[in-house]
Amino acid sequence: MAMASKKLVLLVTLLAAAGIPFSRGSWNIRMPTARTLEAVAARLETDVAAAAAAPVIHALRPLLGSAGELGRRAGVPCDSWRLAVETYNKRDWSTVPASCESYVGHYMLGGHYRRDSRAVVDEAVAYAEGIQLAGNGKEVWVFDVDETSLSNLPYYAKHGFGTELYNATSFDEYVLEGSAPVLPETQRLFKKLISLGIKPVFLTGRTEDKRNVTEANLRSQGYSGWANLLLKPMGFHATTIAYKSGERQKLQDAGYVIVGNIGDQWSDILGTPEGARTFKLPDPLYYIG
Ligand SMILES: *[C@@H]1O[C@H](CO)[C@@H](O)[C@H](O)[C@H]1NC(C)=O
Ligand SMILES: *[C@@H]1O[C@H](CO)[C@@H](O)[C@H](O)[C@H]1NC(C)=O
Ligand SMILES: [Mg+2]
Repeated sequence: MAMASKKLVLLVTLLAAAGIPFSRGSWNIRMPTARTLEAVAARLETDVAAAAAAPVIHALRPLLGSAGELGRRAGVPCDSWRLAVETYNKRDWSTVPASCESYVGHYMLGGHYRRDSRAVVDEAVAYAEGIQLAGNGKEVWVFDVDETSLSNLPYYAKHGFGTELYNATSFDEYVLEGSAPVLPETQRLFKKLISLGIKPVFLTGRTEDKRNVTEANLRSQGYSGWANLLLKPMGFHATTIAYKSGERQKLQDAGYVIVGNIGDQWSDILGTPEGARTFKLPDPLYYIG
């Protein structure tokens, strides 16, 4: 109780120092109880200690829970992990940290993933609308397939949202069902490009034996009118960057102008020729180097 009183005194002192009147009548809200005040005082002590270590540049204090709430709940900063992944600072990772399973699940299934994808596509559409076409029909836009045009979230939701090691057998079984749902934001871009006269080209790490199922899956999800669907030859061994940039080089050699390139992996958009502009969709589920 003595400790609680000391913290109360500290709180009142802090409020007074901040110019906040501490009297019941001046606040049009219910006064907090001693218990909550004690918790607030404890937090203020921490804040004051942190503030003392650095010069104050703005009076703004982040609200508890305003960001990273789910990350904190998971016990590790999963939001920081995701940022490192999306910015390509973190590479060559094989699984989502086990403690981030629920964070990634919430991110993917809640509105956040969709909103992040929308922000990417809004930029891509604005850019596409400003492109001056040469009039010879040679402008193309490269689209990745998995986690770009089609979503494998139904599979990953059953397999720990990326926390389980990749299993080629079970993943292939899922792909061969041809049931992957559309990523609606990407499809919005796809349709916009066609209306503008820019030809979409699919370029995927899926192998040639999955051509039929991939084509059927794309069509069943509302895609049509693409110029080409490029799949990896069977037994072709190279990094994704080497394979995909090689295919883009062939497009360019055939006289096409790659005005845009969109994918969920950095290996979709790195390696010359990348395309005049690249767009990176979010993907915290897996890494392909
Ligand atoms: C991978 O998936 C297959 C097919 O579902 C399953 O039989 C196999 O046990 C899985 N392998 C591992 C290591 O989990
Ligand atoms: C793919 O479809 C074509 C006809 O559209 C068919 O001739 C071919 O056998 C199919 N390939 C596979 C691997 O199913
Ligand atoms: Mg992909």
